[in-house]
Amino acid sequence: MKLKDFAIERYFAKYEFSAKYMLSSSDCDGFGMDEVLSLASESEKKDWDNLKLGYTETRGSIPLRNAIKKHYQNIALDEILVSSPGEANFVLMNVLLSKGDEVVCMAPMYQSLYQIAKDIGCTLKLWEPQESNGHWTYSVSDMERLVSKNTRLVIVNFPHNPTGFSPSQKDYEKLIDICRTNDVYVFSDEMYRFLDHTPGPCLASMSDLYEKSISLWGTSKTFGLAGVRIGWLTSKDKILLQKIENFKDYLSICSSAPSEILATIALNNLDYFLKRNLDKIAKNILLFTKFQHKYPSLFDFSPPLTSSTAFVKLHLKESTEDFAKKLVEETGIMLLPSEAFEYGGQHARIGFGRENFPEVLAVLDTYLKKHKY
Ligand SMILES: Cc1ncc(COP(=O)(O)O)c(C=O)c1O
Repeated sequence: MKLKDFAIERYFAKYEFSAKYMLSSSDCDGFGMDEVLSLASESEKKDWDNLKLGYTETRGSIPLRNAIKKHYQNIALDEILVSSPGEANFVLMNVLLSKGDEVVCMAPMYQSLYQIAKDIGCTLKLWEPQESNGHWTYSVSDMERLVSKNTRLVIVNFPHNPTGFSPSQKDYEKLIDICRTNDVYVFSDEMYRFLDHTPGPCLASMSDLYEKSISLWGTSKTFGLAGVRIGWLTSKDKILLQKIENFKDYLSICSSAPSEILATIALNNLDYFLKRNLDKIAKNILLFTKFQHKYPSLFDFSPPLTSSTAFVKLHLKESTEDFAKKLVEETGIMLLPSEAFEYGGQHARIGFGRENFPEVLAVLDTYLKKHKY
């Protein structure tokens, strides 16, 4: 299979380690390894100190899967498969889909979530949002019209990158009903799980609620541990998980041993990471709300209720890509344009997970004033 280039990742490859400021990152600042290790329990400390750098279990170590299991209502150890998030996605699509299959997926969306299906030769039906003054919604009635007995797979991502959308509990249940009625598989990307900015319970993992679903979560976004490169699939469909495990033998085979221990410690201390990341995101969302009030005719923004990102509409005479190019060249601020999401040329993603967000906004402010935007 030939794969089209991954536009978002190519854009980040160009700037992530050379631009001075990142305004569009979806992850939070990475935590230091010392800080993660300082949270280790006695037995985790022992595992770390005595660690041997041999192969690890393909499914993920038992302590890691036990730590994962705690965050689900009813997922057993053999209903978990550890893998890097991108690999998990790639393998799942290859195991589940064949040329000609019909796939319903959100748009815009993180490219790998639809590109692999497209390049396998599937027909994509897009679940598109409504946008109003920076507020994004995906309607379940639209989903109902798109899904039928001919659909092989529905792909969703809540909290959603880039819009920050998540459905209400009622709509989430309705969506599951639609899929169950049509006997359709669901791939639920939950990489931003628990990044909720309103009180009350977060959505349960789809894998806990629907027997024909596969959920993906990992350490990159919720925890601010992207460098650990650990993710995992959860599903009640053990046959499907076995096929994924068999496919993985041709790729990484198993995860990095140190990363497995770091991920275990993180999962056993979820609240520690969550509190720090949510506080930072909330502070930055508030700052950006005030910033938008200074430029009401320049861009539309409504604070996202979940996730670490927002997708803002820019009212410019030029395309967002052109604007972003000039911005990074003059100020060193990297802004991800919607062209990288194959979603026209009028939007940009803002990321709220970085400590230096106020400094970046100040530089952006000076630039906008200087060029009379
Ligand atoms: C929705 C979504 N899924 C999966 C991933 C992949 O996660 P990772 O970068 O940890 O491989 C990302 C990364 O941005 C994402 O936004």
